Amino acid sequence: MNDPVSFPAYYDDLALSFEEAWSLIAAGVTNRNSPSHMPAVGTVDALGMPQLRIMILRDVSRDTRTLRFHTDSRSIKAEQLRQNPATSVLIYDPAAKVQIRMSGKTHFTATGAVADIAWSASTPFARRCYMAEAAPGTPLAEPSSGLPDWIAGKQPEEDQLADYRPNFAALLVEIDTIEWLYLANAGHRRARWQWDAVQNSWAGRWLIP
Ligand SMILES: Cc1cc2nc3c(=O)[nH]c(=O)nc-3n(C[C@H](O)[C@H](O)[C@H](O)COP(=O)(O)O)c2cc1C
Repeated sequence: MNDPVSFPAYYDDLALSFEEAWSLIAAGVTNRNSPSHMPAVGTVDALGMPQLRIMILRDVSRDTRTLRFHTDSRSIKAEQLRQNPATSVLIYDPAAKVQIRMSGKTHFTATGAVADIAWSASTPFARRCYMAEAAPGTPLAEPSSGLPDWIAGKQPEEDQLADYRPNFAALLVEIDTIEWLYLANAGHRRARWQWDAVQNSWAGRWLIP
């Protein structure tokens, strides 16, 4: 006889599935090995084409429904977000067998306290990326990191980084939908939560997977 199939407590429980979704998302901030640490982040370009790239998840606030990412304020995605804040974030956690799709709007913050604190809290090595002499995505005649020669292979000092602070931006993605897909041989489970600004709460329902 086969072993009885065991299901997680959230399998048929919408509220517990929502808790598990936030728990898996938040794990991306504290656990570098979590798949949520490197979600795919989607924006829309000037031609209406979806554009995806991997980004490191820096912070999550369930209270403000916000995910924080860091990027170069001169990057192509930064320009896309200035034109159109629509953003999607995709995670698949193979161990949990859970896909989470989020969507919302990005607040682009290159100046102010949030970006200042995020800049100061990043390691000098991480901040070295923002020392590129031209905008990310600029065509090159020869292969290059884009960094000035004098910093190649070195970790910058704090005073060497100061001039480059304007190249840094924090992206605050305010999520208003979360979709959940849990894979199980016995039957998948899919749910979607929508932020209700009038009720100031999430409204969730099951969907056919
Ligand atoms: C593992 C990994 C982590 C990355 N993390 C970031 C990140 O946190 N921020 C970022 O702007 N780009 C990050 N990138 C680079 C982006 O995927 C992308 O190539 C770059 O930002 C240019 O995107 P854009 O042209 O759409 O602006 C990462 C790439 C990889 C592979």
